Amino acid sequence: MINNQHTPKNRYPATWLGMGILLIFLLSGCSDDSTTTSAEDPDSNLRTRFNLQTLGEIPYPPDNPPVQERIALGRLIYFDPILGGEKDVACATCHHPNFAFADLRQFAAGVSGSGLGPNRILSNSAVSGAPIELVPRSSPTVFNTAFNGDETGQPSHRGLQFWDGRRAGLEEQASGPIASRIEMRGDAYPGTNAEAEAAALDSVIARLRAIPEYIDRFRLAFPEEAAGIPAGDPAIIDSANYVRAIAAYERELVTRNSAYDRYVLGDDNALNSQQKHGLELFYEKAKCVECHSSPMFSNFSFVVHGTPQEGGGKSVIPGDDCGREEHTLNADDRYAFRVPSLRNVELTAPYMHDGVFESLEEVVRFHNDGAQPRHSAITDEMLDERLREPLGLTNDEVLAVAAFLRALTDPGTALPAYLMTVPQQVPSGLTPVFGVSDPGSGKK
Ligand code: HEC
Ligand code: HEC
Repeated sequence: MINNQHTPKNRYPATWLGMGILLIFLLSGCSDDSTTTSAEDPDSNLRTRFNLQTLGEIPYPPDNPPVQERIALGRLIYFDPILGGEKDVACATCHHPNFAFADLRQFAAGVSGSGLGPNRILSNSAVSGAPIELVPRSSPTVFNTAFNGDETGQPSHRGLQFWDGRRAGLEEQASGPIASRIEMRGDAYPGTNAEAEAAALDSVIARLRAIPEYIDRFRLAFPEEAAGIPAGDPAIIDSANYVRAIAAYERELVTRNSAYDRYVLGDDNALNSQQKHGLELFYEKAKCVECHSSPMFSNFSFVVHGTPQEGGGKSVIPGDDCGREEHTLNADDRYAFRVPSLRNVELTAPYMHDGVFESLEEVVRFHNDGAQPRHSAITDEMLDERLREPLGLTNDEVLAVAAFLRALTDPGTALPAYLMTVPQQVPSGLTPVFGVSDPGSGKK
């Protein structure tokens, strides 16, 4: 499926290109001067009325095109606990294919844990014996993060990552988790917290450099860089190539085969009548689209949403999570959170930065009641003005909006299977995070 040629014109898998052409065809078929569209046809009416869109081409960074060997290497790194300071946690621990590349937990559980997803239990650092706390935020899915928008809201290889948007792009994000004590670092590196955090990336690179299979695989994944470096030289593994490999894998985890997508591409029956009703409500009476605009169902803006706070909180106010302000340290950004994508939201409960809502119906009712129950420190004046008024949805309408959200589900049905499975072995020889494994993936 994945094209391994680097020429810009050949970057995209043929099927996706085909879908893009089909989309252009369909869109042009819906233009005013078209004879193929009937204004009476309720289906085409929804498509044009709301300018419904599917995902376009993946926005690749100029220096990180989709190279097959790079994607495969990134996958191995992603599942390899060698990244964890105490070698007990991988990216997949919290973003696991069994759980739609999230973990289905209210709060993420990293270092020192045993078990996976909702069943994971934390204990103490195996190195220091000190307790390890839960991460004070919920794990978002990695699915479709390739399309996260930048400050303009447009899909970008510099798309905003995290609930507070503190990293721009998957490459920039990929060095973060290994430095966080409770996520991946643990108490493996000496010194103060700041010293250990600074040492994390160098330590992980040194570990990867000590594994001959990784040296070989980095050479294959980065042929241009390898040209000036002798075979077997660990210098081919550096922080720039490490983050590019992980991001190359994540960027392919795009799901564009939801009922919604099939509907937009012309299958009138992909949505049932309740979902079509929910779609109309989503775009009009319930006003969801003002922030959750297609094709990602997010405009990637920062919004004071009023979500009630649970969990340990971040730094600005002890016990609380101030959202964007945690990154900018600007009080104007207090309690503003990045609008998340709603693709696959059915599969990634619980919801919000602190996983406070358990069901989609609960989220819709929160809006229907004018952002209630609300964070106790957020007044009506502070709340985003679009969220202040109750929506007046009937119970059937609440259920219809939730039914429409379930039409955004595609657990990777059109992706190459190996991207979705846990490798049987990883180059470190450590046990990969368990789950469904691909029988062929252990071979070199
Ligand atoms: C202990 C669990 C845990 C581990 C391990 C972990 N993450 Fe995360 N990840 C999270 C949480 C929690 C967030 C949200 C944090 C925030 O917003 O402050 C997150 C956010 C992200 C995001 C941003 C998604 C978005 O749309 O904003 C990406 C991408 C990501 N992680 C990738 C990775 C990669 C790559 C690794 C391994 C290098 C990794 N994660 C390891 C828990 C984890
Ligand atoms: C004014 C902007 C805005 C509007 C309007 C809005 N949302 Fe959101 N939505 C957000 C923000 C911001 C968050 C994240 C808040 C947080 O984490 O505390 C969010 C989170 C969500 C989530 C949780 C996603 C996840 O992965 O946890 C769902 C589901 C959701 N919204 C659905 C809806 C629906 C349905 C509507 C219409 C009834 C709606 N939203 C209207 C801004 C908005």
